Amino acid sequence: MKKILTVVGARPQFVKAAVISRLLRSETWKGLATERLIHTGQHYDANMSEVFFSEMRIPKPDVNLGIGGGGHGAMTGEMLARLETELVSYKPDIVLIYGDTNSTLAGALAASKLHMAVAHVEAGLRSRDKGMPEEQNRIVADHLSTWLLCPTEAALANLKREGIEDCKGLAPSSDRPRVSKVGDVMLDASLFYRGIAAMRSPAERLFPKLGLQGKFRLLTLHRAENTDDAVRLAAIFDSLNKATDLPIVFPVHPRTRKMLEASSIETGKHIIILDPIGYLDMLDLEASCDCVITDSGGVQKEAYFFGKPCITVRDTTEWVETVESGWNQLVGTEGEEIRRALTAPRPKSERDPLYGSGEAAALILEAILGQA
Ligand code: UD1
Ligand code: UDP
Repeated sequence: MKKILTVVGARPQFVKAAVISRLLRSETWKGLATERLIHTGQHYDANMSEVFFSEMRIPKPDVNLGIGGGGHGAMTGEMLARLETELVSYKPDIVLIYGDTNSTLAGALAASKLHMAVAHVEAGLRSRDKGMPEEQNRIVADHLSTWLLCPTEAALANLKREGIEDCKGLAPSSDRPRVSKVGDVMLDASLFYRGIAAMRSPAERLFPKLGLQGKFRLLTLHRAENTDDAVRLAAIFDSLNKATDLPIVFPVHPRTRKMLEASSIETGKHIIILDPIGYLDMLDLEASCDCVITDSGGVQKEAYFFGKPCITVRDTTEWVETVESGWNQLVGTEGEEIRRALTAPRPKSERDPLYGSGEAAALILEAILGQA
């Protein structure tokens, strides 16, 4: 029986871990591995954390380290020290990490300094912008991992460019890693939970309560490069405040709310401001909206899953295939670009199965437990 220690801490990691943690406890896998779930506490508000555990039925974390807020260095450093203690005590065979947050980085560093094998879900993504904290975290995590579980062909190619290739036939280690394309666990999550979201009664759902009569746009924004720069944030809202032809539903990340308030940035009356919402309500909105405007990594992909055109308010993206397919427009914060994107015709191209077929979680467990 293999011992897996999973590190999560931020909202997108709860979504990704939900599918794998559930599968690990299924009849197929429960005899092969046990999982200890550590929540770093990076996201701590009930609507940024607890709601995901309850409505997605994610097992309650075995430990919550309660390390949220503060600077990147202090946060990551504290996580590193506390995770080290957890790892020394549990002695896992595999440390499972997700994505590109500070919790991902701390998990990768803590494990590799103890010579423990790291499995990185969502390996190989690159925006080619090392100014982004996420890009720094991804690069370090990938270079320390033993299992690199890539969602896309582009991710495999990025790793190859950095000298990381599959060392099939050799004992897996961070120097001789196993690299595989498994698809995207966020697709698994979206397919599984959209049925659950749809089965809820109207009283349980946010969407009917919004009173929307017709088409609407869905907006999320939280990236440091947009929110920490008041001029950039104001430029984004300058464009969106003029897009009054449709309502915009905007569940606001706490970081963004703070920055909007601190910079006294006004949002138009057609922008419906909400607190962060749960995943099931988010799926409802993604399924029903006319288009998505976002700087989120996960939401760009979910727009593609739902066949909704996406406007990405960033200069770069790691989800390059959504842009190449024509379903995602990368617009930066230029008013003219945003306006052009809002009036662009709906993409005509078919949506290829760029992110697999919803079996990424099973392929990930086969990769790490089949060869552990
Ligand atoms: C983090 C990740 C980012 C990911 C995002 C998902 C890093 C470097 N960034 O960004 O990659 O896309 O999560 O949402 O790891 N806050 C609250 N309550 C919370 C959580 C955060 O008030 O529950 C506020 C605090 O002021 C905090 C700020 O948001 O200081 C930023 O939180 P942090 O976790 O540092 O980064 P995110 O912007 O959430
Ligand atoms: N999400 C959510 N409620 C919200 C905003 C986002 O459930 O109010 C979900 C979204 O559907 C996706 C995940 O959170 O599954 C993405 O997280 P986020 O945008 O915070 O992070 P990123 O993917 O950019 O790292």
